Amino acid sequence: MHATPVVAAPQWVFGYGSLIYKVDFPWLERRPARIHGWSRRFWQGSHDHRGTPERPGRVVTLVEEAGASCAGMAYRVEPGVFAHLDHREKNGYQRHLTGLQFSDGRRRQGWIYLAAAGNPAWLGDAPDAVVARQILAAAGPSGRNHDYLLLLADALRALGADDPHVFAIERQVRAAAGAGISRAPLLHARCGLPA
Ligand code: SIN
Repeated sequence: MHATPVVAAPQWVFGYGSLIYKVDFPWLERRPARIHGWSRRFWQGSHDHRGTPERPGRVVTLVEEAGASCAGMAYRVEPGVFAHLDHREKNGYQRHLTGLQFSDGRRRQGWIYLAAAGNPAWLGDAPDAVVARQILAAAGPSGRNHDYLLLLADALRALGADDPHVFAIERQVRAAAGAGISRAPLLHARCGLPA
């Protein structure tokens, strides 16, 4: 069993998925940032937030890739916030310390929630059209899986970040669902991204 790391002072945490746009925790400071050597992928299953055990949704995790970098949002938070985040990210994610680079070039250490290959909710790679169909068919206690995708794609655009994988799946979802598809509004005003 993997021990949950204990922190004793304010720390940075880097969000690359729902932690960019669903900011249901207090933060002391927030900065757009990148982590190097990682790519964002819709390869993690979600039984608890955006799907069910019978019909899991797909959410993002990180996979190591030489030369890649992944854009997201870094938050400096009080130690007590990690209890909430560890619970929220419990379905296969483990907290790891890694190097962050802020958009002004400064570097810091920060935590990421990483769902590693082989965890019980892992789904792995699949063609974009298959991922899109699975996303369109899934919903869970946190809402529809396609809202997770569309909110993430909009949040990345608001950050000025290119992510060919996320945007390709978004295109597939929009094409499969037709013109009527909409996304849920953002509920967490503190995140500062357009609703
Ligand atoms: C993250 O957002 O950094 C982790 C994955 C998620 O909750 O979507």
